[in-house]
Order: sequence, then structure tokens, then C-alpha cells
Amino acid sequence: MARFTLNGVDTEIDAPPDMPLLWAIRDIAGLTGSKYGCGAGLCGACTVHVDGKAVRSCVTTIDSVEGQTVTTIEGLSEDGNHPVQVAWRDMNVPQCGFCQAGQIMQAASLLAETPNPSDDEILSAMSGNVCRCGCYQRIVAAVREASTGA
Ligand code: FES
Ligand code: FES
Repeated sequence: MARFTLNGVDTEIDAPPDMPLLWAIRDIAGLTGSKYGCGAGLCGACTVHVDGKAVRSCVTTIDSVEGQTVTTIEGLSEDGNHPVQVAWRDMNVPQCGFCQAGQIMQAASLLAETPNPSDDEILSAMSGNVCRCGCYQRIVAAVREASTGA
């Protein structure tokens, strides 16, 4: 059993304490925006925020987020208009889309901490988020655009 806030809602997950947070989010809470890529913390497809910081939910256990605030792509904004989401649409970033929720959550976390990042800071922050479609140039451009409105 673990209790935490999920997208603003007090949530109880009745599952073994070592269950990956991604499993709880997708299979129990039914929020399927966060994706399973590698399951080993290596691709970033499962990225969510825990107390505002980007974490890989596939390697984060539910007991480790007890009492904390978890935000998924579904809870990033009420209307899909977080500055990162707006920039993503403006720049037509996604191709297949599989990695994109993780990319957006990573970028939103970066901009919350560093509102006006340098290109090096963007590349460094986004370097752990893999995109098999190779959208990297548009991702960096969109983070840059969002940084002016974040
Ligand atoms: S699925 Fe979590 S980092 Fe790849
Ligand atoms: S858009 Fe296809 S994996 Fe990134």
C-alpha cells in the first residue's frame, strides 16, 4: 500500500511496496500517457514529476513516493497549455509520439528549475530522453521557445 497525491488527487495504491510507480500509474490508476520504453531508467519515456522534479517512474518504487506529489503528463496542465505543450505544438515536435510525454515532462522540470537555460543546459537536461524518431532538433528548439513563456 502506498499513498501519494497523483495529479492533485489523494491516491491509495494497494500493491506491493516495490511496485514500479509506472505500473501503478498505468495499470492501476489508468493513466497511460507515461510510456514503458526500457524499464531500466535509460530512455526517459516513463518520466513523471515527483515533487516537481523529473524522475524515471519505471525505476521508482511506489513506497519511495509515499506522501509526495506525483504529476504525470495528464496533470501537467488543466487545458494542455503549459508553455512546453504550446511550444511542442508550435514546433510540430512529435513524430510517432511514443517518447513525447517523457520529453515534455523532462523539459517542464528543466524550465521550472532553470527558466532561461542555455543550449548546453537544454542538451544536458534532455540527454537522457531517447527519441527513436530522431526529433532532437525540434525538441531543443521547442524547449528554447518554451523558455521564453515558461
Ligand atoms: S521506461 Fe523508464 S527510463 Fe525507459
Ligand atoms: S517521436 Fe517517436 S520515439 Fe520520439
